Amino acid sequence: MLENLIIKTLNHQKSDIPIWFLRQAGRHIPEYFEIRKNEKNFINFCLNEDLIIKSSYLPLKYYDLDAVIIFSDILMIPWAMNRNVEFKKDFGPSLDPMIPGDTKILQKVSISSKLEPLKNSISYLRNKLPKSIALIGFAGAPWTLACYMIEGKGSKDFINTRRALWSSNKWFMELIETLVVYVADKLEMQAKAGADVLMIFDSWSHMIPNNFFNDCAISPTARIIDILRSRKILVPVIGFPFKAGSSIARYSFESKVDCIALDWSVDLYWAIKNINKDIAIQGNLDPASLIPSHSGFLRENVLAILDIMKDKRFIFNVGHGLTPDCKIHNLKEVISIVRNHNRKI
Ligand code: CP3
Repeated sequence: MLENLIIKTLNHQKSDIPIWFLRQAGRHIPEYFEIRKNEKNFINFCLNEDLIIKSSYLPLKYYDLDAVIIFSDILMIPWAMNRNVEFKKDFGPSLDPMIPGDTKILQKVSISSKLEPLKNSISYLRNKLPKSIALIGFAGAPWTLACYMIEGKGSKDFINTRRALWSSNKWFMELIETLVVYVADKLEMQAKAGADVLMIFDSWSHMIPNNFFNDCAISPTARIIDILRSRKILVPVIGFPFKAGSSIARYSFESKVDCIALDWSVDLYWAIKNINKDIAIQGNLDPASLIPSHSGFLRENVLAILDIMKDKRFIFNVGHGLTPDCKIHNLKEVISIVRNHNRKI
């Protein structure tokens, strides 16, 4: 039986370089839009076991990948906290914005009972998938969830969130701590259901004022991992502090993640010098390079990444989620370059 390359890489065993893609499950795959046509409400989609299973599985119809990421969304935690989450066409997520100082939200809800379909889908998929394919569960990081919950939508600068951080700091940190527990609960549930790897997306970590980076990104992540380990959840955790610049070096040493996902802006030469050598690295091809129908640079770029990372424990991936317009043939080409490279070493 083939052993899983991702698990081996994360567990310090010698391995070929594994490959999967952030946001591989929906968005760019034609069948996804067919499935989505029949369920226009995205929250209902994320609560429907059949649709979760079908969408998670779809990328395997096209690609030779080492992982399946479970189909869900980071905003299912705010949804479970009754924040009236909706996904509006051509607008994106919309939630009831939180009023700083409002402590009602800090009352405990049971995330796992509300996200039962996610749990059942993971159990089903883990039973069906071959051992060679890792199943990845995930959650948004507390800061990124707080951004959406305070702003009530996406934003270019999350000014209301940053203002609340300064003006209602005690309340803000209580919100982060509440989210730490919910994120840990959601990750625990996924690991117990069969997820082999967990990933924490801090998509808006570049909005954290530098003096708060520890309080808002590093320490909450370390707390989440401490809670998981104290509950005997030992699966590896990948952290993704998106666009956090040089702060990712400190994150790599102090957040307790087993692997750091690097975004497309990170200089890999800088990374191998400055990032904690005891953890694995995932990344960081620009997903925009997968959009042009023909690009002379794609191959060159993939080979350059492989060359810089040749002595590292490394998982090949994109440096942020795939966009709906990326081309299937480009993804196939990248996978074949990585597989051929493995054969040569
Ligand atoms: O591979 C996968 O796609 C797995 C499932 C997945 C989704 N969202 C499904 C989804 C994952 C891992 C996410 C994570 C997520 N969601 C993040 C972190 C990663 C990142 O990209 O930074 C964030 C910030 C969100 C919040 C979110 N969800 C936004 C801002 C939007 C609207 C814009 C967009 O990205 O499409 C979503 C909707 C969403 N989540 C879709 C999918 C497939 C598109 C829904 C649709 O229109 O069909």
